[in-house]
Amino acid sequence: MKQDTFNQFCSIIYERSGISLGDKKEALVAARVGKRTRQLGLDSIEDYLIYVQKDGTGDEIIHLLDAISTNVTYFFRETEHFNAITQCFLEWLSHGKRTFRFWSAGCSSGEEPYSIAITLLEALLNRPLPDIKILATDLSTKVLTTASAGIYDSKKVENLPETILRKYFVSDNNEYHINDSVRSLITFSRLNLSAIPFPMNGPMDMILCRNVMIYFDQPFRKQLISEYHRLLKPGGYLLVGHSESLTGLINGFKTIAPSIYIKI
Ligand SMILES: C[S@@+](CC[C@H](N)C(=O)[O-])C[C@H]1O[C@@H](n2cnc3c(N)ncnc32)[C@H](O)[C@@H]1O
Repeated sequence: MKQDTFNQFCSIIYERSGISLGDKKEALVAARVGKRTRQLGLDSIEDYLIYVQKDGTGDEIIHLLDAISTNVTYFFRETEHFNAITQCFLEWLSHGKRTFRFWSAGCSSGEEPYSIAITLLEALLNRPLPDIKILATDLSTKVLTTASAGIYDSKKVENLPETILRKYFVSDNNEYHINDSVRSLITFSRLNLSAIPFPMNGPMDMILCRNVMIYFDQPFRKQLISEYHRLLKPGGYLLVGHSESLTGLINGFKTIAPSIYIKI
């Protein structure tokens, strides 16, 4: 791909999603954009760039961002976070709290919000179900379709204990369907994290934005964290991926563990 073409793709992608692609990502962009170019029957990546630029419907940018975003995820990724969720949920319940608002920001194909829902249901044991709502959002329409369907092949659930599979999934041939008790707690929606301020007012009890901000630059991360601060209740939690450092970015939060922050 020509350097200028790469630069133009980088600018479009940054403007429309906040995803910051360094020079080392040229091969990745060429491969992913090349696939879309062939799907459309276009001759070259340069032709595809023109196609994106001239598309008045705005649909092609969604395909481009779908192609570029990295969607790796799995059930109960970073287990300590789910232990922390159990701990604070039980503490909140013991203080009489009955309304819970969670947000999985950058939920990918749904494993993260479903893991939150299963964690909460497991923690409840035989207690009555309180008012729990989990908002799950992503930029990519492709992953959101999978997330909403809640159907996973056996490979995706191979590390889940048999008891969890039996309680929260319905198996059908080689597929595992999330059951209604879990599905009903979650609302999936497309939301671009670069479109700050977000169209909701919270207040949220907990926001998980894990393994998403790694794709953003520092000024954008800072803006995003202050938007999360606005949406959280005092005492609400922000969880980020274990490998993400928010040093110098997190005003108005107290660190309680390396990737767990509380709004003060
Ligand atoms: C690596 S996945 C992380 C999934 C999950 N949070 C986890 O930790 O397993 C990153 C997700 O962030 C989403 N993403 C990237 N940029 C985004 C943006 N500007 N707005 C919303 N979602 C975005 C991608 O589509 C992708 O599904």
